Amino acid sequence: MAGNPKGDRWDSALYDDRHAFVWQRSADLIDVLNPQPGERVLDLGCGTGHLTAQIAARGADVTGLDASASMIALARQNYPKLKFVLGDARRLEFDTPFDAVFSNAALHWIPEADEVAASIAKSLREGGRLVLEMGARGNVGRIRKALESTLDARRVPYVNPWYFPDAAEYGAVLERNGLMVRAAEEFDRKVMLEHPEKGMREWLEMFAGTWLEPVPAAEKRAVMEELEQRLRPDLWDGAAWWADYRRLRVVAVKR
Ligand SMILES: C[S@@+](CC[C@H](N)C(=O)[O-])C[C@H]1O[C@@H](n2cnc3c(N)ncnc32)[C@H](O)[C@@H]1O
Repeated sequence: MAGNPKGDRWDSALYDDRHAFVWQRSADLIDVLNPQPGERVLDLGCGTGHLTAQIAARGADVTGLDASASMIALARQNYPKLKFVLGDARRLEFDTPFDAVFSNAALHWIPEADEVAASIAKSLREGGRLVLEMGARGNVGRIRKALESTLDARRVPYVNPWYFPDAAEYGAVLERNGLMVRAAEEFDRKVMLEHPEKGMREWLEMFAGTWLEPVPAAEKRAVMEELEQRLRPDLWDGAAWWADYRRLRVVAVKR
């Protein structure tokens, strides 16, 4: 399976060093998955493999898949005994179907939602389950608005790489691709960013790279400062930066 054709923009070391909250705050999703010893589980968009390892610790036979070579390399280094493969969630090609597909914080990076849902359905056995968490509509809404306003004002053409559906929209995607929704929930999750002063800047560098790529090099610093200024009234509490996350959790079963 080939990796991400758009190229690798993930800095896996930085992800593990500064953004561990992404998997730490979703660790209870493993309880929702409730993996059983011996079950075949696919961790889709596994990143550096920490949740994959928690699934393995419950005795499941888990495979982590990610489109980023940098993420897969660090996952293998972090957990040399586990199976990790480079691949694209839109084009899964496994010979034996899985009992469950699990995914945290990955599917909102893939706007081709129908392709992914069809690909997941194809990889599950009949009655197999999908358990996922992703950004919901309105996720990082203030940050997105600040990016749009700042880049619009400077006439920088940008691409919004994020796909944040609501429960009804995403439920419809799954249903038309052969997956029955059993539960869907949207909720707010404010997250304090790791570094007290540089937290927002580091978050933007990690997760808003696609937005900021078209900014001319000479303007990058000023753009960052402007973004911080716009966000300070809402997301700086005097001691730390916060991100205004909103999540969608779904459990679905293959028809
Ligand atoms: C924020 S990270 C989350 C990683 C991990 N699930 C966790 O909880 O730490 C998002 C991951 O989605 C992966 N991803 C993005 N597009 C993908 C695709 N088309 N196929 C597979 N993985 C993809 C990225 O490479 C990245 O590792």
